[in-house]
Amino acid sequence: MTATESEAPAFPLAATGCPMDPPPLLGELRRDKPVTRVTLWDGSRPWLVTRHADIRAALRDPRLSSDVRRHGFPFLSAAQAEAIGEALITFVRMDPPEHTAQRRMLTQEFIVKRMEAMRAEIDATVDALLDRMTATASQADLMEAFALPLPSMVICRMLGVPYEDHAYFQKRSQMVQDTTAAPQDVNTALGELAEYLVRLAGEKAEKPGDDVISRLVAEQETPGRLSRHEVAGMALNLLIAGHETTANQIGLGVLALQQQPGQWGKLVADPELVPAAVEEILRHQSIVPTGLQRVAREDMEIGGTVIRAGEGVLLQIGAANRDPDAFDDPDTLDIERNAHRHMAFGFGVHQCLGQPLARIELQSALAGLLRRLPGLRVAKPLEELDFRHGGNIYGLFTLPVEW
Ligand code: HEM
Repeated sequence: MTATESEAPAFPLAATGCPMDPPPLLGELRRDKPVTRVTLWDGSRPWLVTRHADIRAALRDPRLSSDVRRHGFPFLSAAQAEAIGEALITFVRMDPPEHTAQRRMLTQEFIVKRMEAMRAEIDATVDALLDRMTATASQADLMEAFALPLPSMVICRMLGVPYEDHAYFQKRSQMVQDTTAAPQDVNTALGELAEYLVRLAGEKAEKPGDDVISRLVAEQETPGRLSRHEVAGMALNLLIAGHETTANQIGLGVLALQQQPGQWGKLVADPELVPAAVEEILRHQSIVPTGLQRVAREDMEIGGTVIRAGEGVLLQIGAANRDPDAFDDPDTLDIERNAHRHMAFGFGVHQCLGQPLARIELQSALAGLLRRLPGLRVAKPLEELDFRHGGNIYGLFTLPVEW
């Protein structure tokens, strides 16, 4: 290891150790160098922050910006840096007050009350998918048969996107999340997705339905608050954010419950534990391997370290969720612990807008599997499973199961 590498390890950190745990180096950094420089693909050296308390404070601090247009924003790959075009700059990558105004246009769509009203429909979708999965076989790829289609169907319904087109946008949305993909491929995928959604928004303008895109067109585009491209950009963000996140969290969650002795059986015996189990899965299994990206707007301190204006900051929520100062015995998955202080959905003004939906999907998926397939087993040893390394979202390509 050269001096630079030991001072500022290459980031994302190499995936070593158990695929169900963050890389061991992350734990060492959290203990010894909780705010430290790392080296990105372009040679830039942003700060990596790993302690729960530091990240919580930083995510509240308005001196840290989410604005990708700001000099020093820590892009995680060439593809990400080049692909940040018009289509991707929505409120996720903006700061208040611009962020506040745009986020507010969607908050009504995701309020807990509205999401709870969707619970019965989500339960019915879970049942229909499990009917199909179990009709003729006693084994399946849980990702393909269940974990991916569930959130996909739900977000399509909410947005008013025809589910028949899911193969088209699933392929492209996976490409957009892949930090190892060639920049031009990511750009092409983004362009095609944006074009698809612009066309769909046009159709909704002509013939509105009871869905998010129709309401964005009627309530924001028509009075001139958003352009059609901005409507498509917001829809694109929701489509991407609503897909791979929940799907991979379901896959990793089922696997983690099966790996930790006794946890699956405990849930089968007492399904009332499902909501707590979902929080513990969110804490224990981070699908955001790279951390939340920010750039300092002015000089500031994080955990006693001075960060200069224009320097990038990566807030590693996966490491925070395994911080022994925040959770006892953090590496053990324990569905009976109180995990509510986890930061799987982030914290502060950008905290996940879709979290009420994600929670219901995760609870419904898990409850359905426990009810219908209490004897479910993962059909391959951990070493033979196909984990998604190298993307913005961690998870599994496939999860072979039998029952
Ligand atoms: C298990 C599932 C999910 C996880 C772990 C997750 C995680 C996160 C995290 C960590 C953030 C904060 C990003 C930041 O601060 O930079 C975020 C933001 C966001 N998420 Fe999720 N998410 C999930 C599911 C969803 C779903 C289902 C939707 C919508 C359909 C969604 C929509 C969003 C949006 C729109 C934002 C941006 C909020 C803002 O910037 O104000 N997410 N999510």
